[in-house]
Amino acid sequence: MPAKGKIAYICSSCGTKHPKWTGQCNECGIWNSLSETKIAQSAKSIHGIDPTDNVPIDLSSIQVARVARMSTGSAEFDRVLGGGFVEGAVTLLGGEPGIGKSTLALQCAGSLSIADSVLYTTGEESLQQLALRAGRTKIESSNIKIIATSELESVLHFAKSTGPKLVVIDSIQTLFSTEQESAPGSISQVRACADRLVRFAKSTSTAILMIGHITKDGVLAGPKLLEHIVDTVLYFEGDADSRLRLVRAFKNRFGAVNEIGVFVMTDSGLRGVENPSSMLLSSDNTDKPGSVVLVAQEGSRPLLVELQALVDDTVLAAPRRLSIGLDGGRINMLLAVLSRHAGVNLGNRDVYVNVAGGIKLSETATDVAIALAVLSSHFDKPLPAGTVCFGEIGLSGEIRPVQRGQERLKEAKKLGFRQAIIPQANQAAHGPEKLEVVPVKNVGELLELLH
Ligand code: TYD
Ligand code: MG
Repeated sequence: MPAKGKIAYICSSCGTKHPKWTGQCNECGIWNSLSETKIAQSAKSIHGIDPTDNVPIDLSSIQVARVARMSTGSAEFDRVLGGGFVEGAVTLLGGEPGIGKSTLALQCAGSLSIADSVLYTTGEESLQQLALRAGRTKIESSNIKIIATSELESVLHFAKSTGPKLVVIDSIQTLFSTEQESAPGSISQVRACADRLVRFAKSTSTAILMIGHITKDGVLAGPKLLEHIVDTVLYFEGDADSRLRLVRAFKNRFGAVNEIGVFVMTDSGLRGVENPSSMLLSSDNTDKPGSVVLVAQEGSRPLLVELQALVDDTVLAAPRRLSIGLDGGRINMLLAVLSRHAGVNLGNRDVYVNVAGGIKLSETATDVAIALAVLSSHFDKPLPAGTVCFGEIGLSGEIRPVQRGQERLKEAKKLGFRQAIIPQANQAAHGPEKLEVVPVKNVGELLELLH
């Protein structure tokens, strides 16, 4: 039995420490996620820090150094990072297994290594596998140093001796420190390794790209817990069935959040997509009932996305509500608004809503598109071909303006759309030429558009 007071129960999802074991983490609500962990000694006793070493100074006396960026060689990846890797910054790249994390990491290691030295460490694959991937993605540079190891101490040793500009860790879950007793992949190992890598990055101005696995519900030891330790958190999104891959910035100390980079997985690795809207709209069912095109705003760029709804009679006691790529709660709310303020009651109808391309949309500007898709499927009436929409819907059925209306219209125009259904309050002096703007004030007007 270990000494009393040195054991804590740590949630493998959110990392919260509990003094006692419970079946459910009271912080994040996940069941059976607590595991017994030995707590390390306090920071002071490990590092011997004197608290009076660090004295407060005037904010104004600090000289701000220019952030040194290194381009990743991919315009899309640079955009998500806010212009490239930053010296001394740690980036976490999370995503489901098989989505393309190692491919992206190796590709940018490849292009960075043309000018700078790069260390690629893998605890996941053999050197043979890595070389095979490098061959597939046509990486020729011989400047990447690779090492297959899971030992943190060995990674740090080679990082110190070779002095690279970028260190890739594939993946943080396979890494372990010999100074920790717990098993690789456990919460305390992941956290301890990440902590030491962050300290290494800051003290040597080395950029670190850390790969982390995450399951569909995000309940794997790692990424969630590391979000606050690292400088930048990027997540891969995308369908297993589609070749489209999105990398989204969830946190970025050196750039904008929610910025996305769009890629396709090809036979020779990931390729950036300059004009993602045209790719997302490649299907030709946009004038079928239930199909609607909306202009979403992801980070700094507008994106045209196809949204589909299917409304059908239910065979169950309670109707089914299923959404992919959208918040289910928001859809229930919109169905309630349609029932109350447009008189369209879908209480005995199943409602399925899907965003094409495996993209996740969280903006409220998707409301109008969801409502139109649902109404269009319910009444079996398509919207006219060449129509886009956007707008937020309030609880009293009013349609509210959204940000960057003009930019959204411009993007729709650029892609050849002829009509845009938008909130009345977004209607500026004039929209782009040859794009007919249909302003709407409430959900009742949406209903009229379909009759
Ligand atoms: P990978 O980068 O290994 O995924 P992760 O590191 O996130 O687990 O790649 C995943 C998939 O991509 C794999 O199923 C094979 C495919 N792929 C291609 O289609 N083309 C390529 O050039 C490469 C390297 C991989
Ligand atoms: Mg991998």
